[in-house]
Amino acid sequence: MTATPEAPADAGALEYDPYDAETVHNPFPVYRRLRDEAPVYVNEQHGFWALSRYDDVVEAHLDHETFTSTHGVTIEGLERFMPLLIVKDPPDHTAHRRVVSTLFTPRRIGQLESFVRQTAVELLDRLRGRDTFDVVQEFAIRLPLDVISELIGVPVELRAEVHRLSDIAAARNGREPLTKEEIQASMGLQELLTELARERRRNPGDDVITTLMQTPVEDEDGGRRYLDDDEIGVRFLELAFAGHETVAKLIPNAVVALAWHPEQRARLGADPSQLPKAVEEMLRWDPPSHYQGRWTTRDVTLHGVTIPAGQRVILLTGAALHDPRQFPDPETFDMDRLLERHVAFGLGRHVCLGASLARLETRIAFEELLQRYPEWDLVEGGAQRRMNGNVRGLRNLIIAVKPSPAAIG
Ligand code: HEM
Repeated sequence: MTATPEAPADAGALEYDPYDAETVHNPFPVYRRLRDEAPVYVNEQHGFWALSRYDDVVEAHLDHETFTSTHGVTIEGLERFMPLLIVKDPPDHTAHRRVVSTLFTPRRIGQLESFVRQTAVELLDRLRGRDTFDVVQEFAIRLPLDVISELIGVPVELRAEVHRLSDIAAARNGREPLTKEEIQASMGLQELLTELARERRRNPGDDVITTLMQTPVEDEDGGRRYLDDDEIGVRFLELAFAGHETVAKLIPNAVVALAWHPEQRARLGADPSQLPKAVEEMLRWDPPSHYQGRWTTRDVTLHGVTIPAGQRVILLTGAALHDPRQFPDPETFDMDRLLERHVAFGLGRHVCLGASLARLETRIAFEELLQRYPEWDLVEGGAQRRMNGNVRGLRNLIIAVKPSPAAIG
């Protein structure tokens, strides 16, 4: 497999199209050229500007007044028509984020640990006796969605339907328009989640949905109100989308990283307490979310180039995380790197709400994987990459495994 960040930069005119098949396969060579040759790049065909150096990406993330999310966070920006947290500005954003944050307290995330482990164990137990399996389809996609269902209190009997609808809704590739089936699946998922809220309204309990219903939102005029059932449905749909595909990409990306760095895999197998720092390097080395879209509210001049007001600007997380100005020898996966700050979860106002949950899921996924399979190989032709909005990663990854004697016994 050659989806490596190490391929040499090509010469020729600099063109960056995130949906170009070669770029989806391996964007890192073009990222290098963007950082070095055009740190303020404009793509006139698709109508966006791109910032690729770490410092510029960080500053833009933190300058919310100049770089707003309200016009959407992808190049197409279609999500700006949905009432999502990610496209809101204060005071609306602050109010809604405060309510959703009640689901992500350290105590609540800590309580999920045993469920995450039990789910990972069950999924891996089903693969017992197999020489090969698809890490994405048979493990990484299942785990985060069940965890979100558990977090928001989806009853067990509805979880298979949540999987079915989410799989259809997330099947999109590149910039193809949404199909009727995909739209129906998203609407079906939202309806299912809204129905949960309706049911809980009739029978309140000691659960997350009831907590959301009872946590006030401060309106723009300073008044207090409570989320209605439709709004709760949207908040849950947002969590299902934000927290599912991203973790489902990080795990297989890291399976590739460790297959290419067997000495670090062996160290993690021997000492799983090193996994938390390795997870940070996994996020840096091949991040699921490759860019965050913004919109300029005023003219901005950077490196002698002026981006006018009213333009789509993408902050290239993927390029920033491989900027040698910040991360020496960036193409090397090195779990001993001291990563004080990276932008894989964004920064500032919209920084990922699920970061601690994502870290927990990834750590446990690898604790369980490494315990069963100290070694694995990538199967030739078993990997397929996709770009869906701003998320890039593997849709399939077949690996050949050698179970540890303990796992067989
Ligand atoms: C490895 C996994 C993940 C990655 C790489 C990731 C990445 C990100 C990034 C980069 C942002 C900022 C977007 C922007 O500024 O435009 C973000 C926001 C967000 N993430 Fe995550 N995420 C992950 C997992 C999760 C999980 C597990 C959840 C919840 C279950 C979640 C929920 C959210 C939400 C709700 C926001 C919007 C926050 C806001 O706008 O205030 N994410 N994520």
